[in-house]
Order: sequence, then C-alpha cells, then structure tokens
Amino acid sequence: MKKVITTTDQIDFTLSDLEDMPVPEKVMLVNPQYFEVKYIINPHMEGHVGSIDKQVAMEEWIRLKEAYRSLGLYVHEVPGAKEFPDMVFCANQSLPNITADGTKQVVMSVMNADQRKGEVPLIEKVYRDSSYEFSYLDEDKFQSFEGMGDAIWHFKKRLIWGGYGYRTSIDVYDMISEIFNTPVIALELTDPRFYHLDTCFCVLNEETVMIYSKAFTEEGLQLIHSMFPKVIDTNDHEAAELFACNATCPDGKNVFIQKGCTEANQAMREAGFTVHEFNTDEFLKSGGSVFCMKMLLW
Ligand code: ARG
Repeated sequence: MKKVITTTDQIDFTLSDLEDMPVPEKVMLVNPQYFEVKYIINPHMEGHVGSIDKQVAMEEWIRLKEAYRSLGLYVHEVPGAKEFPDMVFCANQSLPNITADGTKQVVMSVMNADQRKGEVPLIEKVYRDSSYEFSYLDEDKFQSFEGMGDAIWHFKKRLIWGGYGYRTSIDVYDMISEIFNTPVIALELTDPRFYHLDTCFCVLNEETVMIYSKAFTEEGLQLIHSMFPKVIDTNDHEAAELFACNATCPDGKNVFIQKGCTEANQAMREAGFTVHEFNTDEFLKSGGSVFCMKMLLW
C-alpha cells in the first residue's frame, strides 16, 4: 500500500489490516573509536566540543553491544572512520526493509549536515556485502533524509512513522512509501531539541509507543493516538536531557534506555516491559543515545 498520511481522516486501515513483518534478528553497530564532538549540528552538542572521554564512551558502547548479544541478536560490528566523528550513530545513514518474499532493500540517506554526508557510502558498503537491493534519493530533488533517525518501523507491521521538519523533508516519504510499498504516517517535529523522530517517539510493541508529546503538532498527536491504544508520555527532563524516547525495544518486551529515566521506566514496567538501563552520557553530549547508536536488521 503506497500512501503518505498527514491527517487522521486519511487512515483507512487498522493495525490488524497491515501486513506482518518479522522481528529483526541482527543489529549493526559502529565502533566509537573515532567518536568525538567536533562541530555543532544540534542544540545538545553546544558546549561539548572536544569534551568526549573516549575511554568512557568505549566502555558505554561495549556494554550496549554485549546487551544486544545477551538478547540473542547477532551483532554486526562496523569500524568507525577517522573523518566522521558521528558515524557511531548508525541509525541515520539508511533505512532498511524486508519484503514478504524475504528480499532485503535499503534506501540510503541524504544527510542534512555536510559534515556527515561522507558516512553514507561507508555504511552503503556494509549493505553491499550483505546483498541488499539499493535505492537512492535524487539529491537534486530531495533536500535531506536521515534514515531511521526519522523513519521508524512500527513493531512487526508494514507501516512507517516518518518524522520531518529538521533533518528530513516531508517530500521524501512519497518515494519511500513507493519503494517499500508501505504506508507512511508523517509527523511534523516542532522543537529543535527533538530534531529526529527517534528523540521523541519510541515504538515499544504493536500497541505501545513512548513519546514526548510537546514535540508534536496537535495533528501529529491525533495520528499517534489513532494507531496506538497505549501512549506513554515522558517529562521534559527525561525526554530532553536523558533522551528517554531514544530507547529501543528490539523484541517488543526488553527496553534498553539511558540510565535515570525514573518516570518513563515506571510507566513501562507497569505496562509489562522489562527495562534495562545503560549509561550513554558521552553520547548524549552529541545529541544521541541508545536508539540511534544502532541499526536493527533482518
Ligand atoms: N551528533 C549527531 C547529529 O546531530 C547525533 C545523531 C543522533 N541520531 C539520532 N537519530 N538521534 O547528527
């Protein structure tokens, strides 16, 4: 089904009408050996240039890597690149898909910031080695698209939630919807601290999402509530400073989240999730946390 939805009256399906998708079994991680804050392209990076403790960052990342393994995911580790201090945020350079017949496809991003454009061909190589079918956005036509930072799969359903406004332009979603034959529900982002959808919107399972509601328009909130029977809202401190909504729930049960999100964790536990806390303090200085430090793959 090809379609970009921007208002609730355009939704003519329910969750159960949508094609099922498998749960990802692999995770791609980029080694943070060259991670650094070298420039400022989001408000969280301000005041942090040159302040990363590389040793601590590495330890934080290794703990996450081990946790994915303990969850039973196959970890595909990719080396970092010296010229690209943000490459560790490997949710951003691509958006993968798997079709009903098992074909693996990927759309490569057009990064918004010039400093990050060179990461895309490096990640592309990883997919090339794993026999993916490629699609590219015409850079003359589309301003920018930052992969799974903004385009997030619903859990186990053929539906994409597409954020736009800061790093991704809405017009890319027509093409993505067409290439993946998947409906996209587009959500406008309204607060520069929440510059990617994955900073304020975290799909936990088919029925549950955790959001920072103030980062959306009224229309966006209606769209979210129309598809998710359970919406957990987060407070300003946990969402903006601890990146609570940049958590990830790879199996619909276990949630990996930055340490200290007390209210969010309680709400998730009450909803039946198992919460695992991680320290991603060094990565928060760059405006990223758990979700964007990985790419789930099939
Ligand atoms: N410093 C990186 C940037 O601004 C952080 C990216 C975090 N990614 C994310 N999907 N939230 O591009």
